[in-house]
Amino acid sequence: MMAPLLEVSGLSKRFGGLQAVKDLSLAVAEGEIVGLIGPNGAGKTTAFGLISGFLAPDSGAVRFRGRSTLGLSPHELCALGMARTFQIMRPFPRLSVVRNVMIGALGRHADPRDAEARARAVLDELGLAAKSGQPAGSLTLAERKRLELARALATEPVLLLLDEVMSGLNEVETERLVEEVRAINGRGVAILLIEHVMRAVMSLAGRIVVLNYGERIAEGRPQAVANDPKVVEAYLGDESVGAAPA
Ligand SMILES: Nc1ncnc2c1ncn2[C@@H]1O[C@H](COP(=O)(O)OP(=O)(O)OP(=O)(O)O)[C@@H](O)[C@H]1O
Ligand SMILES: [Mg+2]
Repeated sequence: MMAPLLEVSGLSKRFGGLQAVKDLSLAVAEGEIVGLIGPNGAGKTTAFGLISGFLAPDSGAVRFRGRSTLGLSPHELCALGMARTFQIMRPFPRLSVVRNVMIGALGRHADPRDAEARARAVLDELGLAAKSGQPAGSLTLAERKRLELARALATEPVLLLLDEVMSGLNEVETERLVEEVRAINGRGVAILLIEHVMRAVMSLAGRIVVLNYGERIAEGRPQAVANDPKVVEAYLGDESVGAAPA
């Protein structure tokens, strides 16, 4: 069997007295969409930080494209084809939308004209072309979510880590973004998707991993996971989710 694109094994991270991620294992195959869900504070974003080189694990291993990522910087991982979005978005607010996206593209295209062409192509695809000259700080929430996605896509990843790109969007905006994520995946980009919007993650992911208090409590096909009593119990009392996954 071919090794998975991303292989996480026994990953742990502690912040002082808090075990944020505990012995986490998961894999993402080439071209797959895997959902990563769990109540607030479950350790999802921390797991992304560990996978993408922004945080160093206390123990455990991450392999990407068959090689250990130990000691690799986010920048080096990006060059290898891994890109992430941030739950707390950090565009450069005074720079134009297209300049923000160009920063992602420059890693692949040393010539700024090529980087700009790549940035414009991505903005076009995500329906942001009309905003490309505006400062990033002037965008609406829904547009900033797309900008965050555009910045990641401009790096031409084979694996995209998306951290709550749907949160705060209305139904129409969510539906549109779901279709865009599906289209990105349709071109062969594997996706690890953190998402509280259950309808989105249920319709996109072929497989879902559920975290609770840093630990994986369930994994499987969306419907099976949604009906898992451990998962339903973990979500009871989590007010950030409108209803238990159904
Ligand atoms: N840099 C940090 N220092 C200390 N504690 C942290 C740090 N980052 C995260 N934590 C804590 O680790 C736990 C996991 O946080 P994390 O952000 O990974 O959760 P999450 O699953 O992404 O939550 P949410 O759904 O709210 O985004 C939380 O209790 C959080 O307060
Ligand atoms: Mg988070």
